[in-house]
Amino acid sequence: MPTRRSALTLMASAASLALTLTACGQSGEGGSKERPGDAKGGTIGIAMPTKSSERWIDDGDNVVKDLRAKGYRTRLVYGEDDPDTQVSQIENLITQGVEGLIVAAIDNKSLNNVLQEAADANIPVIAYDRLILGTKNVDYYASFDNEKVGRLQGTYIVHRLGLDSGRKGPFDIELFAGSNDDNNTRYFFDGAMSVLKPYLDKKQLVVRSGQRELNKVTTLRWDGATAQKRMDDILTSSYRSQKVDAVLSPYDGISIGILSSLKSDGYGSGSKPLPVVTGQDAELASVKSIIAGQQTQTVYKDTRKLADVAATMVDDVLKGRKPQVNDTTSYDNGTRVVPAYLLQPVSVDKANYRQVLVDGGYYTASQLK
Ligand code: GAL
Repeated sequence: MPTRRSALTLMASAASLALTLTACGQSGEGGSKERPGDAKGGTIGIAMPTKSSERWIDDGDNVVKDLRAKGYRTRLVYGEDDPDTQVSQIENLITQGVEGLIVAAIDNKSLNNVLQEAADANIPVIAYDRLILGTKNVDYYASFDNEKVGRLQGTYIVHRLGLDSGRKGPFDIELFAGSNDDNNTRYFFDGAMSVLKPYLDKKQLVVRSGQRELNKVTTLRWDGATAQKRMDDILTSSYRSQKVDAVLSPYDGISIGILSSLKSDGYGSGSKPLPVVTGQDAELASVKSIIAGQQTQTVYKDTRKLADVAATMVDDVLKGRKPQVNDTTSYDNGTRVVPAYLLQPVSVDKANYRQVLVDGGYYTASQLK
């Protein structure tokens, strides 16, 4: 039985032929030019979910940069949040003869067939930030401690409301979660609820809308406009004479939608201050909003590090080395526990954004003006 590496070597000439034939055919091309005769590294396909959020653009660019530095060519595609588009993009990458795949899934359950095609072609697959479910054909997972992301959001709310320093409340809170087809959604929500639930149980926190269960609070495709509409509805139905004190938001794009809704309802003025609003990703618009005193917090995840972990994983697999992992128990995808490398998220607010984001080189001070 050939090893994965020798099978890949056998495929190399077919792959480079396919790539030559299709060199101009791929939308969202992020790869370097064809360099015939440069046999140093093959081509890695990178499938990202959407360009509508700046983080994924940075992720894609960073993965390309890291793989190029390791001698690979790259093909970077964006699925524009449409699962079928992503499936056909990955099919194309396989046909084009990529040697490895790095995939941030749009719908975590839609990739089983296409990943079987990848496995049949002996192409290793790294799940990028979002775990792919229901298939054995995902080799490694590169992400953050997603449960901790949620705990940081929940802890921030508890702290800002003073519940951890003796204030009794009750405070009114509303809960938002991410897309129900993203495996991370459950981890973020469970992490946050592990901190909030004791206060909900004691009625120091009250969800006036009554929408408390995950299946009642998800936001399809993490869409800010969908969240804004849901917040509008909640304010209309449950906060005519009350004021919401905190909103658990799992992601900056959702936070911005929630804030638009709150501002249209008159929040943000002296008598009606904005509630505590969490977030995730430290996107530029949200960091500016934090500096302006609107969004309260975000969870920063250094996408430069994530890109490096994923690029190193695929390089290790292709070179026959065992990638470094630090979690072999948490991420059961329904078929196997996928070995993972989890990075650490960091809570960011107005008090520490300079130190974390500017001193850490993620943004320049002038980008935040
Ligand atoms: C998740 C990711 C979050 C956020 C969200 C929306 O999978 O872990 O950081 O980016 O998607 O894009």
